[in-house]
Amino acid sequence: MARKPLIAGNWKMYKTKDDALAFIYAVNVEVPDRDLVESVICAPAIFLRDLVKREGENLRIGAQNMHYAEEGAFTGEISAAMLKSYGVDYVVIGHSERRAYFNETDETVNLKVLTAVKESITPIICVGESLETREEGTTDRFVKAQVIKAYRNLSSEDALKTVIAYEPIWAIGTGRTATPEQANETIQGIRLVIQELYGDDVASQLRILYGGSVNTKNVESLLSMSDIDGALVGGASLDPKSYLTLVRAALK
Ligand code: PGA
Repeated sequence: MARKPLIAGNWKMYKTKDDALAFIYAVNVEVPDRDLVESVICAPAIFLRDLVKREGENLRIGAQNMHYAEEGAFTGEISAAMLKSYGVDYVVIGHSERRAYFNETDETVNLKVLTAVKESITPIICVGESLETREEGTTDRFVKAQVIKAYRNLSSEDALKTVIAYEPIWAIGTGRTATPEQANETIQGIRLVIQELYGDDVASQLRILYGGSVNTKNVESLLSMSDIDGALVGGASLDPKSYLTLVRAALK
């Protein structure tokens, strides 16, 4: 079974309400058929309700974070059940910015993955190495450990409901993309880890995206690689035209 491409925009902390709505109106009817490519926008939590209400047939909305607890005294936090009750279908988990600035750890990533899957929200699990790790030559080992920890206690049936995004930290927001070969090689390594954990079937079906300075110019060469099943895109997902170019590239 071929893996359906997934292009997820990660808006981070950009846009105001009017910008967010204008974006949705501009892309909604233009987004390609969902049977061919999964097009997702991961927006700031405060926009989710408005965006889900207006999402067209082929667009889906995701969150950028959630708490791992089902509910509780966690002031300021948002649960998976809350997201689900608003029709949110995806959630980014363990983005390197959350790991670096908001104390996200491999342990909390794992707990969040378990909760997201339980609520039928697709977690987009981010892993990726620093420049230091890449230069030391220990990328594969580092990323492998992140993947193993993220999937702790997850059954193979539930593992199939997840997506991984390989995002080298040195490539995020820097304009410095991994080469398609570099990205593909690391992603093949990740697929091998999934194979070790869950066997051939899961490994051949689980989607692994690349993220880090993906733009309208480099997207096609990245997506042409054997193991890259889509992209998690920050900066280039903010503009409707650029976003549409990215999702259409996945059709080729
Ligand atoms: P970028 O961000 O495309 O702006 O590099 C990617 C990401 O952080 O997911």
